[in-house]
Amino acid sequence: MDVHEAIARRRAIREYTDEPIREDVVDRVVRAALEAPSAFNLQLRDVVVIRDPETKRMLSESSRQAQFEAADTVLVFVARAEALPEDAADILPADYLARVKKVKESMPPAALREAAMKDTMLAAGFALVAASAEGLATSPTTGWNEEAVKELIGLGGREDRGIGLVVAMGHPAVEAPHPGRQDSRRVDERYA
Ligand SMILES: Cc1cc2nc3c(=O)[nH]c(=O)nc-3n(C[C@H](O)[C@H](O)[C@H](O)COP(=O)(O)O)c2cc1C
Repeated sequence: MDVHEAIARRRAIREYTDEPIREDVVDRVVRAALEAPSAFNLQLRDVVVIRDPETKRMLSESSRQAQFEAADTVLVFVARAEALPEDAADILPADYLARVKKVKESMPPAALREAAMKDTMLAAGFALVAASAEGLATSPTTGWNEEAVKELIGLGGREDRGIGLVVAMGHPAVEAPHPGRQDSRRVDERYA
């Protein structure tokens, strides 16, 4: 399947069969997510791969969204809302890192969170397309309590972490019609 077909076939699907997703397929989707570009290549996002039934059940319970429990796998896209990751020196050459450090350390927490969220959501978008290319269904969500999700994945109380998208993923049990897109969302050159 080429990338255009994977994008065109993707729908938000919330019901899944019991067929497990093969480990190598999960790995490919996660790798695709982590292949997404990020500002300064600092990769200020993590992907938490949840396959444990009890954790998925608790996610469903706390968010009142049944698709997490129903899904084979849930991917939680975590924003690292910090100036620099602990491994920044492994990623960037020292002189460049010194310049980036100056810029990032001058940013207030809200701006750091926003920057990390941009990295996070882009990685999540890559995962949605990669999953579609594997014939999998996904349900991207933001309808949950951030603190409850953080607690469940071991980040309770961490101010320097945020949740971008929580994605349920499984083999589709249903089909969904295309809900439509507005042509008016394309703007050529500038707003009139
Ligand atoms: C940022 C974002 C947040 C969303 N949050 C939820 C959610 O909390 N629960 C849910 O069932 N669907 C959620 N959706 C799915 C959308 O409702 C769905 O993507 C949209 O209706 C378009 O349908 P399509 O994905 O099939 O094209 C979310 C989608 C996005 C992109």
